Amino acid sequence: SSSLDVDISKLEAGSEIRVLIGGLPWFIRRRTDAEIAAARSVNVERLRDPETDEARLRPKPDGTLNPHILITSGICTHLGCVPLGPNQGNVGAYGGWYCPCHGSQYDISGRIREGPAPLNLPVPDYVYVTDDLVTIS
Ligand code: FES
Repeated sequence: SSSLDVDISKLEAGSEIRVLIGGLPWFIRRRTDAEIAAARSVNVERLRDPETDEARLRPKPDGTLNPHILITSGICTHLGCVPLGPNQGNVGAYGGWYCPCHGSQYDISGRIREGPAPLNLPVPDYVYVTDDLVTIS
């Protein structure tokens, strides 16, 4: 297996970095305050794949969660296309990602909201080395 260190210090709110690790795509998104509020306002029990936004975050070195940074797989859980996002100008109807292959819509927490995909975009194993550097594996 491989891993990658990603400097997130220059990632602007509302945009994302896309990286490949071992040939597989991952998304690193810096969310705005409004996007965090939207992610937390969802009724989790009504989701297809129920997960709180907090459960999809990881602790910084000081032990607190950083709600601004969301890291997920870049592979749609339907049939494996790479969803579009803010850098492609299409965040879908729920503010996250839109899969053009069959229309799956993911929210700003990477949770499936509409379309054929069965599961949320997976969260990888990653750790904060510093507040501005994450190692994804
Ligand atoms: Fe994404 Fe089918 S592969 S909706």
